[in-house]
Amino acid sequence: MTDNHLTNINPNPKPAAKARQALPANQVRAALLPDQSPRLLQALHLLTRTGDLNADALRKLKQINHLYGLLRPLLEPLWISDDGQPSGAPLVVDAGAGNSYLGFVLYELLLGPLGRGELWGVETRADLVERVRQRAQDLGFSRMYMAQAAVAGIGAVPELAGRKVDAVVALHACDTATDEALLLGLAQKAAVIAVVPCCQAELARLLSGGSAVRTALGPLWRHPMHRREFGAHLTNVLRGLVLEAHGYQVTVTELTGWEHSLKNEVLLARRVQGRNPLALRQLHQLLAQLPPLPMRLLTELGVVDADGNPLQATEVKS
Ligand SMILES: C[S@@+](CC[C@H](N)C(=O)[O-])C[C@H]1O[C@@H](n2cnc3c(N)ncnc32)[C@H](O)[C@@H]1O
Repeated sequence: MTDNHLTNINPNPKPAAKARQALPANQVRAALLPDQSPRLLQALHLLTRTGDLNADALRKLKQINHLYGLLRPLLEPLWISDDGQPSGAPLVVDAGAGNSYLGFVLYELLLGPLGRGELWGVETRADLVERVRQRAQDLGFSRMYMAQAAVAGIGAVPELAGRKVDAVVALHACDTATDEALLLGLAQKAAVIAVVPCCQAELARLLSGGSAVRTALGPLWRHPMHRREFGAHLTNVLRGLVLEAHGYQVTVTELTGWEHSLKNEVLLARRVQGRNPLALRQLHQLLAQLPPLPMRLLTELGVVDADGNPLQATEVKS
């Protein structure tokens, strides 16, 4: 080995270089769920051909697997009737699917073994749709489909038009695409709605005007950083209340670690009743303390008008 070669070795690799380093085999094994096949993870390029996993891929895999663990107990009952018999062929939508890592894991571990039901990824980007279709075909995942569409435009997808959606999941669907997923789930009265929101800028924008800041609560969001964090927090609080008002039992928990602090919240919702007037009242009481917020989710559901003023509706629309 030459001196020259030695001087080319960086004793302190940059984080990006570290993230690409392969992890020891025992860490790779520990990251896999029982029944999770290395073949799938290789097809998704999370595992290399030689079975190595780098730190970036490990982080993604841990997120997806943890979310799968939260979703499974909610989704599994959709395949079973009240008397414990097999029933139905549920339609699950993965909104803003991207590379559909979650969809592939759901299919391999749940839809595939259960032998019934369909998983539809909905994604705007044609290249991702094509990639996922190809991988699903290569893996023989015959009930895993992709639709190239905005979540809000799913009604125009011929294979989905007029069909009942039983569950909507959305992992980091950008900005208001999470709200499109919630609107879809509510309109469909889906049994399960589960979202891990992405960064959310809509409320931070709405709270940025001078009049919004010159209110008694204005100091909560006066500084841009507080506005971003408070806006994201308030968004998820309002989303949870909207779900509850529509009869869902809501659990809010964390996805994994806090390295993505603004993207680490999971809202898990299971439909348990038609309407919840108490939650609707709480939603209106909260909105009455805030500046007018014409947030898309709230305007489309008729909770506030186009200027963000709360509508004193006795019912929420879905
Ligand atoms: C941050 S990526 C997350 C992808 C994937 N769910 C994951 O966690 O790996 C968000 C994806 O949502 C897609 N997207 C954004 N807005 C959308 C919309 N309105 N309808 C459908 N897809 C959307 C983007 O193209 C992108 O692929």
